[in-house]
Amino acid sequence: MTKYVIRGGKPLYGTVEISGAKNAAVAILPAALLVDGVCRIENIPQISDVTLILNILQELGADVRTVNRTTVDIDCSHIRNARVPDTLARKIRASYYLIGALLGRFGSAEVPPPGGCDFGGRPIDLHIKGFVAMGAEVDVKGGLICAKAKDGRMAGTTVYMDMSSVGATMNIMLAAVLATGTTVIENAAKEPHIVDLANFLNSMGASIMGAGTDVIKIKGVDHLSGGSYSIIPDQIEAGTYMAAVTATGGEVLIKNVIPKHLECITAKLVEMGAEVEEQDDAVLVRRDRPLERTNIKTLPYPGFPTDMQPQVAACLCLAQGTSVLTEGVWDNRYRYVDEFRRMGAQIQVDGKIAVIEGVAQLTGAAVEACDLRAGAALVIAGLAAQGSTEISQVRHIERGYEDIVRKLSGIGADIRVVVTPDETKAVQAG
Ligand code: EPU
Repeated sequence: MTKYVIRGGKPLYGTVEISGAKNAAVAILPAALLVDGVCRIENIPQISDVTLILNILQELGADVRTVNRTTVDIDCSHIRNARVPDTLARKIRASYYLIGALLGRFGSAEVPPPGGCDFGGRPIDLHIKGFVAMGAEVDVKGGLICAKAKDGRMAGTTVYMDMSSVGATMNIMLAAVLATGTTVIENAAKEPHIVDLANFLNSMGASIMGAGTDVIKIKGVDHLSGGSYSIIPDQIEAGTYMAAVTATGGEVLIKNVIPKHLECITAKLVEMGAEVEEQDDAVLVRRDRPLERTNIKTLPYPGFPTDMQPQVAACLCLAQGTSVLTEGVWDNRYRYVDEFRRMGAQIQVDGKIAVIEGVAQLTGAAVEACDLRAGAALVIAGLAAQGSTEISQVRHIERGYEDIVRKLSGIGADIRVVVTPDETKAVQAG
């Protein structure tokens, strides 16, 4: 088993560079299925979710060539197969983007149900409702989601989203770019990665207007052709390092970010006692005052992101006074709370609300990452705690954070990877 061992209680100082956005990459890579020709995609984060998507594309028959550490060339022109193999797709949430992309390209798709972090129910009814409105028939057969456009090609229409869903917005966009007619998505999600996917598709010849607002219009085109595109920086990775400095104190320059995307996070960290100085493509985060309590409600963008909720909870555990967190997106995103309690945190959860009584210090403990952001939050808690914290199940963290141990070590954290003999044996045994 691989663990992270952290000796906490040290402020962070230095410079850290942010990678490309996971939640943009996991949609843009499948979008290459729609393109006739070679797509060069730059600023790809090196994380296991991206590796999985690239492997799935290769299994489908895509030609994937690594240009350098963060750039790949993908050519999906020769793919004739709209059926996604089972084993890999089940491991990742974003495999649902293959449904929209394959429907757009072939008018049919057979994709296993998606996996990913467990936050209670994670339905995809809004995705399916959109595909059906665009003329597809969707069934579950033999454990696969089978979708087929009745006339062989998706048909533009107006889709009203009951809830602003990031995944459904992007999936419908993927199904619509090569459809006949115009698709209008109303009550669309507005996250930065939605704009990034639209920019990628437009740069390959699509006609998408309004991404980043709640009405997106997609005029179907006959053909997308190859080109090159660079993925935006990861808002949540940047926010996680901002929260880490807020929790530990110190001063860190966080480079390769879009400060505008971080404003919703910055506002709350400033209330908690951090100072944040925006630069062109960097933010300087400093905290040298005591941490203060605050209340936070997670909401779709431009509200405070749910994917930052566990990380700010780690900061609030050490703030003076009582803070109230309200989870406004997922039913159950507090599974990490028991692990925080092992470190001395005082948190009560009632449904979507967590009440956090700040304590003077957290103490290191053996804890387990139950999902990606919960794992990142435990890293932050470990960095701020007194003594040694051992985090297991770090594979969840590595799904979404490139080189987190190296990046944190570079800003002065005492964190190392420990691989226990069991796993070494398993690896040697193949
Ligand atoms: N929802 C439905 N029906 C649907 C789709 C969503 O009821 O068909 C509900 C969900 O249950 C949830 C809300 O709508 O209550 C929002 O879900 P959304 O569809 O926006 O989430 P998602 O697309 O499945 C993405 C990110 C998540 C992030 C959410 C919200 C990816 C691969 N995942 O999930 O990221 O929490 O948007 O911003 O982009 C993470 O990176 O750690 C992560 C979990």
